[in-house]
Amino acid sequence: MCGIVGYIGNNDSKEILLKGLEKLEYRGYDSAGIALRNERGIHVFKEKGRIADLRGIVDEDVMANIGIGHTRWATHGVPSKVNSHPHQSTSGRFTLVHNGVIENYDLLKREFLTDVTFVSETDTEVIVQMIELFVQEGLEVLEAFRKTLTLLHGSYALALLDAQDDETIYVAKNKSPLLVGLGDDFNVVASDAMAMIQVTNQYLELMDKEIVIVKKNDVTIQNLNGDIISRVPFTAELDASDIEKGTYPHYMLKEIDEQPLVMRKIIQTYQNEQGELTINPEIISAMNESDRVYIIAAGTSYHAGLVGKQFIEGIAKLPVEVHIASEFVYNMPLLTEKPLFIFISQSGETADSRAVLVKVKEMGYRTLTITNVPGSTLSREAEYTLLLHAGPEIAVASSKAYTAQLAVLAILAEVTAKSQNIRVDFDLVHELGIIANAMEVLCDSKELFEHISREFLSVTRNAFFIGRGVDYYVCLEGALKLKEISYIQAEGFAGGELKHGTIALIEEGTPIIALATQESVNLSIRGNVKEVVARGANPCIISMKGLNMDEDSFVIPEVHELLTPLISVIPMQLIAYYAALHRDCDVDKPRNLAKSVTVE
Ligand code: AGP
Ligand code: GLU
Repeated sequence: MCGIVGYIGNNDSKEILLKGLEKLEYRGYDSAGIALRNERGIHVFKEKGRIADLRGIVDEDVMANIGIGHTRWATHGVPSKVNSHPHQSTSGRFTLVHNGVIENYDLLKREFLTDVTFVSETDTEVIVQMIELFVQEGLEVLEAFRKTLTLLHGSYALALLDAQDDETIYVAKNKSPLLVGLGDDFNVVASDAMAMIQVTNQYLELMDKEIVIVKKNDVTIQNLNGDIISRVPFTAELDASDIEKGTYPHYMLKEIDEQPLVMRKIIQTYQNEQGELTINPEIISAMNESDRVYIIAAGTSYHAGLVGKQFIEGIAKLPVEVHIASEFVYNMPLLTEKPLFIFISQSGETADSRAVLVKVKEMGYRTLTITNVPGSTLSREAEYTLLLHAGPEIAVASSKAYTAQLAVLAILAEVTAKSQNIRVDFDLVHELGIIANAMEVLCDSKELFEHISREFLSVTRNAFFIGRGVDYYVCLEGALKLKEISYIQAEGFAGGELKHGTIALIEEGTPIIALATQESVNLSIRGNVKEVVARGANPCIISMKGLNMDEDSFVIPEVHELLTPLISVIPMQLIAYYAALHRDCDVDKPRNLAKSVTVE
């Protein structure tokens, strides 16, 4: 969600910052701004809308070797120029960008800043005004920054400029992600390595409540007590070409198409020399020592968790509960004696999931993160990590990360089962290979899905996705994809549940997308389709080969029945993609959404 960049060095920072912000666009934002510091002072440019709009107002003639930039995803105050960051203190001495939420901003305002006239509605402005206040009261800037941080409750990633100091960017973080990148004669600040990979691949991780003093040739990390902390940089394993769209019109389409490749990469990465699937034995011991797995996730990752439950229970015979992170944190069920918590998160930064992680770690429980982003917060803070190896996912709507999550969960289930001598009656490597091929067939059928999308969704305001068993879980994901990017009101339902209420919504022409990939419920889901057709619905049935019937709109290739979600989701992704395209929606950056949801 939103992002921060900063640069200090010998070059003009303007373009580096703007390019960096463009690389962070995928995270979701509604306004953007930069502050450039040169011998004439600090120049702030900010605008509601896209980076392209910001580019339109940045004065080309302002050259500056120091600068900070921000994309905002509004939490306090509407998206507007005045609420956009950077924010400045009353005298103009301090300029700040902030990602996150200051929960006690109102209290701080009343306690410390009654004499200050605020310009914006943001919580952020309180921070920069407090720094100024403490400096006016006699503290050095670093001390004023530190004192302010000790008073803040909530989440923050911060970068601060002082008009009287041409050598420093002050940085701090708590809960929100932030990295410092290291270069020769320059250093950078970025919410993630992708933003600055063009200029460096060497990064320092920052821990919560650390302060960093970033200079051109020096970076000092301190804790809130002022103790110096030494840290070894890591190399960000990102290929700049991974984050380019190439010839694709949208990242989402590129990422949908990458799924067969990702599948093969996962099979390869999780195989040992003997061709057997393998996972860090400590993780397998943690699985075996637990009496129940609790999967915690949000959005698409939650949907992956639901399918993961089927895999772990079906293959490894270990009971699993799946919970929405934001609910679990405040409404924890009774836990078993030896729970293992698995966090599924593409970004590894989701604040809701992290809140649970922090809590269950305090309770002494074991934790595993399944994520696409090595070094992400959830990965660093959990006891173990399994990586998705899906490559950067830029489109806000998740596609390849979902199928990668399913594949890794299936592997985890299989390796656990084998470690317990539980018989697995299929060869997962072989089955995932079949999946990769089937994915290719589906990705090659784009025209058909464009046609289906036009036929069923071009004029409608709502749509229903129905399925039973794992098909139901894929329907939840299909509905989420459609609403996220096309803004069509869509809901996923268990086929048998419709008649208990929702069927009242069916009208002449209401599109119903039904999945039929499970033999045991093939006839019942078709019965549910008949019920809605009798009330005027327009059905689009997507079935699996072997279970197909004449009335079906599309038949997916046959794969192992337990693994069908890995491919039945692709029609859902493509149908949603084309529905968004037909409606002229911004496919990769849907309104109101963010890629990394770093606020609770
Ligand atoms: C996916 O299409 C969504 N944008 C969203 O639901 C996402 O899955 C959710 O915010 C969780 O993100 P995570 O996987 O990065 O934790
Ligand atoms: N809470 C701040 C605001 O609303 C920062 C939002 C963000 O993280 O972009 O301005």
